[in-house]
Order: sequence, then structure tokens, then C-alpha cells
Amino acid sequence: MSKKVRVAVLISGNGTNLQALIDACIAPNYPAEIVLVISNKANTKGIERARKAGITTRVVDHTNYSSREEFDTELSKILSNSQCTLVCLAGFMRILSESFVNKWPNSILNIHPSLLPSFPGTKTHERALEAGVKVSGCTLHFVTAELDAGPIIGQAAVPVLDNDTPKTLANRVLKEEHKLYALGLELVANKILQNKKIALNSEKSTVSKSLLNF
Ligand code: GAR
Repeated sequence: MSKKVRVAVLISGNGTNLQALIDACIAPNYPAEIVLVISNKANTKGIERARKAGITTRVVDHTNYSSREEFDTELSKILSNSQCTLVCLAGFMRILSESFVNKWPNSILNIHPSLLPSFPGTKTHERALEAGVKVSGCTLHFVTAELDAGPIIGQAAVPVLDNDTPKTLANRVLKEEHKLYALGLELVANKILQNKKIALNSEKSTVSKSLLNF
């Protein structure tokens, strides 16, 4: 394949989802390439993973900006300069402002460690265990201005075991996140390469429909 979709990945920490995407992009026929990794924290394992893979990295420390909008404006500038088409949030623990999200319509993907719409936000595994659910999982979705509420691209489920702790459940879910993210990005990037319009209406989204067959 000669043409690939240019992707920037935003991280805040360990970057195992980033690693899954880096690994997926190695396949010659994978339709996406990671052109930039941005972390809002310095010295993260994720940045180390990107450097090891030879990917351009930037640290944009949010504590250096006086407002969310200022930080987001800088992010948007860097992303535009990278000429990326898609932005993948992979453990990026910052809420993006509405103006940022509106600048990147249908272009930001996020992986969340629960079966949305259940347990949006943080401490998902703790809350899933407290609620006593027997199934949990992860969700890959497009990002809209409302937190963890954008159109769902795909989901993967895992059982919740009686003796689970937040950590054991998180590890089980994380393994599924890696597979789901690589598959979902492949599907979205292929749609872009095929010039197919991705509808933002979740129920009508061609992407969601295809991914329901996972
Ligand atoms: C992942 O479980 C991801 O779903 C979660 O942070 C972890 C990052 O792991 N993201 C969120 O909770 C975002 N709301 P990683 O850095 O190893 O990919």
C-alpha cells in the first residue's frame, strides 16, 4: 500500500496502547502510520516507546499553560503542523475543550476502559467492581465535546471474576484495548483511504456497523 493515513497519538503515561498501535503499523498493509506522539508529561514510558520506534515526539506539559484553551491551542497547532489526519488518544488523561474537539471533527479516537455508556470518566474499574457488574470491557469511540460520549466504533467485553481487584480487572481489559484499538484504527483509516464519509451519527455510522461483527 503506497498511501497511509497520518496519525498523531496523545499519551500521558505508560503507553501500552501506543505500543499496540506502533506494532500494528509495522505490517506493510496496515493503512495508518504514526507520525507524531505527544505527551502532556515528561519522561513517560510512552515517550520512550515512541523514541525507540523512531517516531517524532513532543512533550507539551499542561502545567506550563494558564488555561485549558491555551494548552489545547498549542496542541492543535502542533497537530496541524504534523499534517496528521487522525488523532488517537491513548491513555491521554486530559479533557479536551469543545473548541479543540470542534477543530478536529470525526478525527479524534479515544480508548476508554469500560463498556460505555457505563462508567465514563476516571476510576472505571473501581466503580465497575463496586457496582457488581459481571461483564466489563473497553470502548473505542470518536471524541465529541461530551466526555466519553462520542459515537462508538467498537467494544470488547471481558468477564469480571469474583476475586478481581481494580488492578486484575484493568489488566484483563487492557489486553482487549490493545486489540480493539489496532483493529478500530485499521478500519477507520481504511474508510478514509476509500474516501468514505464517516457519519457522526453513532447508530448510522458505517464504522460502527462493520465493527459490530468483531
Ligand atoms: C488505558 O486503560 C486507557 O483505556 C485508559 O488509561 C489506560 C492507559 O494505558 N484511558 C482512560 O482512562 C482515558 N479516560 P496505557 O498508557 O498503557 O495505554
